[in-house]
Amino acid sequence: MEVFDTLTKFQKVLNKNHTNRTIGCVPTMGALHDGHLSLIKQAKNENDIVVVSIFVNPTQFNNNSDLLNYPKTLEADLALLEQIGCDIVFTPSVLEMYPHGEVSESFNFDGLELEMEGKFRPGHFDGVGTIVKRLLEIVKPTNAYFGEKDYQQLLIIKKMVSELKMPINIVPCPIFREANGLAMSSRNERLTAEHRDEANLIYKCLLNVKSDFKKKTIKELNSEVKAIFKNHSFFDLEYFVIADTQSLKPAKSINPNLEYRAFIATYAGEIRLIDNITL
Ligand code: PAJ
Repeated sequence: MEVFDTLTKFQKVLNKNHTNRTIGCVPTMGALHDGHLSLIKQAKNENDIVVVSIFVNPTQFNNNSDLLNYPKTLEADLALLEQIGCDIVFTPSVLEMYPHGEVSESFNFDGLELEMEGKFRPGHFDGVGTIVKRLLEIVKPTNAYFGEKDYQQLLIIKKMVSELKMPINIVPCPIFREANGLAMSSRNERLTAEHRDEANLIYKCLLNVKSDFKKKTIKELNSEVKAIFKNHSFFDLEYFVIADTQSLKPAKSINPNLEYRAFIATYAGEIRLIDNITL
């Protein structure tokens, strides 16, 4: 496995040795867990070369303490990547990725950026778009892998790649969960043991919505979820939304021709968790 922290060395190797070979790219912010590894394993199965990037992207954080507290475990990450047979790791510095200052480009994602995460994390998707565009331009992969855990991010990246006419296949990967159902996330490491145990409530709640989806109205489902989280001792629900999987617009009633997902964002103490389920 080769590890590069500068663009020049990294691009030299990519350009020289890997023409006519398929490249699978998995962008990450590190603190790798089995969710990330499931993407990397899929990329390995479907490509000749796998490139993983590890970069905690400052422009997508709208909260400075979240950025400062984001877990950084580079040594352990590299050991995991070596173990599963990753070929190339790119670990650039902030200066390398933002030589002209930490600023985002402005994107128009057809309104996708205005829903859910976009409402609560202003500027977040401009930051994601900026860094993913840059990484994809550098790596020029055949396939790039993104988790459905961040479903809105996945749609936005698909939109960006199609608008920019990048010849890259964006591959959606299923949500990987802990044994109790909690969606794996680097932020789970910052949960207290009690909060981590109880955070299976999020998935339980989504499973209930899934099983009641055909039996109840959207209004009833919304009220039920709000009631579960109301007055909880440490969960603080930020949003619960049932939305169609293309526009991400909140559904008011069900159109049988559309597909839906339920999305949730909640704080557990200080830690913000998101999850979603197909309905
Ligand atoms: P990060 O949170 O590190 O996630 C990297 C990739 O792993 C994303 O595509 C994310 O959706 C996926 N992922 C995380 N947890 C997952 C889980 N439990 N199951 C399946 N996939 C999971 O998302 C980012 O980084 C950044 O925004 C990034 C795209 C790298 C841009 O900075």
